Amino acid sequence: MSYQRLLMKKIIIAIDGHSACGKSSTAKVVAKKLGYMYIDSGAMYRATTYNFLQEGVDTKNPGQVDQALENTDIQFKIDGSGNSQVLLNGTFAEEFIRTMEVNQHVSEVSAISSVRRAMVSQQRQIGTEKGVVMDGRDIGSVVFPKAELKIFMTASLEVRAKRRQKELQEKGVFEELSDISSNLKSRDEADSTRADSPLVQAEDAIVVDTTHLTFNDQVDKIVKLAEQIIYDR
Ligand code: DC
Repeated sequence: MSYQRLLMKKIIIAIDGHSACGKSSTAKVVAKKLGYMYIDSGAMYRATTYNFLQEGVDTKNPGQVDQALENTDIQFKIDGSGNSQVLLNGTFAEEFIRTMEVNQHVSEVSAISSVRRAMVSQQRQIGTEKGVVMDGRDIGSVVFPKAELKIFMTASLEVRAKRRQKELQEKGVFEELSDISSNLKSRDEADSTRADSPLVQAEDAIVVDTTHLTFNDQVDKIVKLAEQIIYDR
C-alpha cells in the first residue's frame, strides 16, 4: 500500500438508485480504484430472497420469516481477483441470486421490516471502519445518513433494460426486452413506494444520470468526487 494511501482519510460512499442503472458495476470499480471494500447490499436482499424461496417461506407469516432469517447467514468474501463475493450459508451464491425468479420476488422480501432490520444492522457493522463503497436503495438515506459522499444514480428505463439484457446475454441467458423492462418498472415502483425505507434520493445526494455516459465516465466522475473529499481538495 502506498504511503499516500495509508495517510488518506477513509470515507463511506453510498450509491443508491434505480434497478439496473449500473450501480453495482460502477461501485465495484470505484472501490477498486480507491482501494476500498465494495459491498453490494442488493446481493444481501437477493440471497435472502433465494433462501426464502428454497425454504418455501410464506412471506406473510412473520414467524416463518423470523425463523428463516435466523437460518440465513450472509457474508462477503474477497475472491482471487480482489472482488467481494456474497456467500449464503457458507456457499458462493452469485450464480443463484441473479435469476428472473429472484428478480420477481426480491422487492416483496425486501419490503419486510424484519428483513430490512437484519440487513441494515449487518451493513452498519461492515461500515464501522469506513473505506467502503456500498450500493443499494437506502444506503444514503437510512443505512449511512452521515456518509461523506452520496450518489443517486439513474438512467432511462429503455437504456437500463438494454444494458440488463446484454448483461444476461453475456451469461448465456436470453430474456425478452419487454419482460426485462416491465420487471425493472415494477421493481422501481415497489422499491419507491414501500412503507419501510423506500428508494428516495437523499437531500444531499449528487445525481449521476448515466443514460448518456460511458461506463468509464461514470466511474471517473464518482472517483473525482470522492478524491475531493478524501484529500480535502
Ligand atoms: O441492486 P439490486 O437490483 O441487485 O437489488 C435487488 C433488490 O433488492 C431491489 O429490487 C430492492 C432491494 N434492495 C433494497 O431494498 N435495499 C437495498 N439497499 C438494496 C436492494
